[in-house]
Amino acid sequence: MRKETGDIRDIWGRFTTGVTVITTTEEIDDGSDVCGSKSDTRKSQEQDATEGSKHSAVHGMTANALCSVSIEPPLLLLSVGINRRSKRLIESKNRFGINFLNTAQLDIAIHFSKSDPGRDQPEGLDYWYTAIGIPMISGSLAYIDCRVAQHFEVADHVIFIAEAETFALGQGEPLVYYEREYKRLDRWDS
Ligand SMILES: Cc1cc2nc3c(=O)[nH]c(=O)nc-3n(C[C@H](O)[C@H](O)[C@H](O)COP(=O)(O)O)c2cc1C
Repeated sequence: MRKETGDIRDIWGRFTTGVTVITTTEEIDDGSDVCGSKSDTRKSQEQDATEGSKHSAVHGMTANALCSVSIEPPLLLLSVGINRRSKRLIESKNRFGINFLNTAQLDIAIHFSKSDPGRDQPEGLDYWYTAIGIPMISGSLAYIDCRVAQHFEVADHVIFIAEAETFALGQGEPLVYYEREYKRLDRWDS
């Protein structure tokens, strides 16, 4: 029997997760006002070659609705709200990057969780690019470069099933999310 006792988000708040930023790219008009955007309009080397008034900018979204689906092939699942800008960008490219954050990247997690974070970028936010041009946040705990295999709408979210095409380990201690707060891991005394 179903019992409704409060907010389901309080239950999921008890499920401890890591924190990631999903990175994509979007086309920006060079002359446009980017105030209020959390897209980084600095150009990559490849993007410098782009002719005309448009170029690609990095877009990020903090995410934790993410899990591994299979190891062979290496599939994973990401759930994205239908109103998120990231949903449109992932669908248009069929590609995205996953950046697993470390404790030194708290400000980056906060920055990319805001839909309108203002003009300021967090200190130390920098990117490198995978072979196929997916932007990754420098200094992260780990990285996966993903190709969307299938996606489907469920209620107010889109479920992306993606294949990890390339991946790399980075550095640091994991940034953790528990009861709607960012935390760090403690260790058992041995
Ligand atoms: C810790 C944390 C985890 C989040 N996880 C997700 C997620 O998995 N999927 C999602 O759609 N939004 C998630 N969000 C909300 C988005 O980060 C937020 O709505 C963001 O502004 C969306 O950006 P966009 O609309 O520019 O893509 C999360 C927020 C936080 C703070």
